[in-house]
Amino acid sequence: MKINILSKEFAKSNISDLIRISKEIPFEYWEKEHFLFDLSKKWDYSLVAVNEITQKVLGFIICSQKEEFSIHIHKFAVEKESQSKKIGYILLEKLEKECYSTQIRKITLKVHVSNIRAINFYLKNGFVQKETKEDLLILNKIL
Ligand SMILES: CC(C)(COP(=O)(O)OP(=O)(O)OC[C@H]1O[C@@H](n2cnc3c(N)ncnc32)[C@H](O)[C@@H]1OP(=O)(O)O)[C@@H](O)C(=O)NCCC(=O)NCCS
Repeated sequence: MKINILSKEFAKSNISDLIRISKEIPFEYWEKEHFLFDLSKKWDYSLVAVNEITQKVLGFIICSQKEEFSIHIHKFAVEKESQSKKIGYILLEKLEKECYSTQIRKITLKVHVSNIRAINFYLKNGFVQKETKEDLLILNKIL
C-alpha cells in the first residue's frame, strides 16, 4: 500500500471510487462537486491510500486548512473490506506528521453521535471531545 497526497486530478479520475467509499460514512453524502470543490490547502494535505499492485483506492482523508495553525478533516473513510487493518491509523499518522512539519498544531473533525466505531477509532488515536452540536461530536487533537 502507498499513501499519496490526493491531487485534484487523481480525485477527478477516481471519483466513482471516492464516492463509493464515502458511502461508508453514515448520515453524510458527498457528490462529485463536493469532492472536487477547492478549499484552502485541500490538495496539499488530503491523502489517499492506494493498493500499489491494483492501483485501487483503499481509503482517504479529505481535509483543508481552517485557521493559521489548524486543519479540519471533512471526510475520512476506508473501503469496507479493508477496514480494521490499520489503514486509517496509517493515513492519520501521515497527516499528523505532515501537519507537524508545517507548523499545524491542531486537527479538528465532526462525527455523528451514532458512529460509535469511528468515535472509538478517534479516541484511540488521541482525539478528545470538545463539544456536541445537535447530532455531531466535535473532536480535536493537539499535535
Ligand atoms: C473510521 C475508519 C476511517 C478507521 O479506519 P480503519 O482502517 O478501519 O482503522 P484502523 O484499522 O486503524 O483501526 C480500527 C479501529 O477503529 C475502530 N473502527 C472504526 N470503524 C470500524 C469498523 N468498521 N470495523 C471495525 N473497527 C472499526 C475500532 O475501534 C477499531 O479498533 P480494533 O480494530 O482494535 O477493533 C474506518 O473504519 C471507516 O472508514 N469507517 C466508516 C466510515 C466512517 O465512519 N468514517 C468516519 C467519519 S467521521
